[in-house]
Amino acid sequence: MAVERVPSGIPGLDPFIGGGFEKGSLIVLEGGPGSGKTIFSIQFIYEGLKRGERCVYITFEERENEIIEDAASIKIDLKEFIHRNLLLIKYFSPLETDVFLGNFEKLILEFNPQRVVIDSVSVLNDYAADEFASRKLLHEIGKFVQRVKCTTIIVSELSGSLGEREYLPIRGIEEFVADTVIQLFYTGFGGEYDRSMRILKMRRTNHYRDILPLRLNEHGLAIGEVKEA
Ligand SMILES: Nc1ncnc2c1ncn2[C@@H]1O[C@H](COP(=O)(O)OP(=O)(O)OP(=O)(O)O)[C@@H](O)[C@H]1O
Ligand SMILES: [Mg+2]
Repeated sequence: MAVERVPSGIPGLDPFIGGGFEKGSLIVLEGGPGSGKTIFSIQFIYEGLKRGERCVYITFEERENEIIEDAASIKIDLKEFIHRNLLLIKYFSPLETDVFLGNFEKLILEFNPQRVVIDSVSVLNDYAADEFASRKLLHEIGKFVQRVKCTTIIVSELSGSLGEREYLPIRGIEEFVADTVIQLFYTGFGGEYDRSMRILKMRRTNHYRDILPLRLNEHGLAIGEVKEA
């Protein structure tokens, strides 16, 4: 059976990922501070909202109004969708990791979204009892969203620069649970495309393997032209 694809919301990306993300798949989005993880996630959600899909944005770091402001910086008005009850932005305290999974599952089952973002799970590492506990929690989150077939982005901090593979201890979910791993870098191709993106892994997809040129301006993130593609 053909894989059902959902558009990513990042202009220029879908041709490099087989037409879009696999419906119901788990995407891990990695990058350093300020690399555009939140902006990417907002564009992914907005793409769904424009199609009338229900979306949930879970945040451990920024408050609801900050996510709304981040979206406004790339000319996206999320308030309209909150009022229409298509979008739920929900802040969870990282201090409550022990009850997070139960609350998260309840919220997802009640709101019944097609797209979900969790931004960012790195903070769970700092508050979970130990590394095993945080890995287990990530696994359970991943397995749950795959089971209920919400296309989900899990945002994760990445340390190190382009070419290196140096991760914070969150490493593990990407290799075992994630269907797709995407990395964002602020080193790029110069000029407008001064950032870059790499698709590290994408199950069931013959994805582009090289570094993609990326720009970030008031219209958000977009992929630049790649000659050989
Ligand atoms: N309108 C805009 N024009 C140009 N750049 C912008 C615009 N809005 C945001 N940015 C840039 O986006 C970056 C922040 O993006 P974002 O918040 O998505 O990063 P992040 O990876 O989520 O960061 P953090 O790790 O701090 O959460 C900043 O470098 C900022 O300069
Ligand atoms: Mg962010």
